[in-house]
Amino acid sequence: MSLRIGVIGYGYWGPNLVRNFATGARTKVVAIADANPSRRQLAQAHYPHIKVVEDAAALIADPDVDAVVVATPIFTHYDLAKAALQAGKHVLVEKPLTPSAAQAEELALLAEQHKRVLMVDHTFVYTGAVKKIRDLVSSGELGRVLYFDSVRINLGLFQPDFNVIWDLAPHDLTIMDYVVSQTLGVQAKWVSAIGASHYGRHENLAYVTVGFEDQLIAHVHVNWVAPVKTRRTIIAGSKRMLVWDDTSPVEPVKIYESSVDVQHIDKESAYALNVQYRSGDIHSPKLDGKEALSVMVQTFAAACLDGAASPSDGAVGVRIVKMLAAAQQSLEQQGARVKL
Ligand SMILES: NC(=O)c1ccc[n+]([C@@H]2O[C@H](COP(=O)([O-])OP(=O)(O)OC[C@H]3O[C@@H](n4cnc5c(N)ncnc54)[C@H](O)[C@@H]3O)[C@@H](O)[C@H]2O)c1
Repeated sequence: MSLRIGVIGYGYWGPNLVRNFATGARTKVVAIADANPSRRQLAQAHYPHIKVVEDAAALIADPDVDAVVVATPIFTHYDLAKAALQAGKHVLVEKPLTPSAAQAEELALLAEQHKRVLMVDHTFVYTGAVKKIRDLVSSGELGRVLYFDSVRINLGLFQPDFNVIWDLAPHDLTIMDYVVSQTLGVQAKWVSAIGASHYGRHENLAYVTVGFEDQLIAHVHVNWVAPVKTRRTIIAGSKRMLVWDDTSPVEPVKIYESSVDVQHIDKESAYALNVQYRSGDIHSPKLDGKEALSVMVQTFAAACLDGAASPSDGAVGVRIVKMLAAAQQSLEQQGARVKL
């Protein structure tokens, strides 16, 4: 049985979703809605056999649609996802789920009440690199995780309605949530953020820190005004350290046989330390090269058709929005720690 999909939004990201849902083994696209006539024309030219409509409400009401995919700008997610859930459809929403934590929680509750799947397209958790990193963390290869450090900067597209945190940090926070919170079973406790808006109302640069218990700390640097494109994550463990360079076409994940061992020779003196540095081989694991969106599409189909679990379900979507909202609040309070 195929899951019949209706996609709302055929702008920049929507076509990638339509392509993957159209070719998915257990999914087929039966309808596309976009308010913009030129985007509808393009969709119809690419997919002459698929219904293309202007009105999202008509797609949601369409009895041929089992599941609705919301690929429109963030401020429209809540209304569209709510209408789709109330119409009894499964729903996949683009990241981030909503612009407010209360709206995200309401959608998760609605999905539960209607016994429908609510999933968020946190694309990165479906990449081969992130799955490998998750395996390395869960198998204990890195030892105790000390910190997570992520940089996502370039000459980025300024967004008119929101700042760089809401645009880029969902990626880093969802990767962190997957490889740290979901894998180790630890939850973030607080968020602090500072930023700068050099060109207008919205911050184009931000440094976000997320605190866990036990000295585990995460840091995310997002920036639309940088001369180079950097997509780099470092996870330091007590046994090994890992660097993921997502811009590298070869060996993007490298594991360093590097660690530090500190012995306190004299507990009374802070200076009496015996520090052993270990710096050995570097190796690069083989990664699953499947397109992340195709894996995400299969996961969504399995959630809707078989009731299977997913690493980007509504509850994760809510957690990420809470972190983003806390980062926003902290920004407005000059970096004060905001409890989660
Ligand atoms: N997962 C990822 O890596 C990734 C990458 C890029 C964008 N996104 C997300 O995808 C979503 C869309 O981003 P985009 O860059 O494609 O935006 P976009 O502005 O390029 O496209 C949005 C499209 O939705 C249409 N639209 C808006 N409101 C509508 C409505 N009520 N009914 C019907 N059509 C409507 C617009 O006409 C437009 O064609 C955002 O949530 C964004 O965060 C995710």
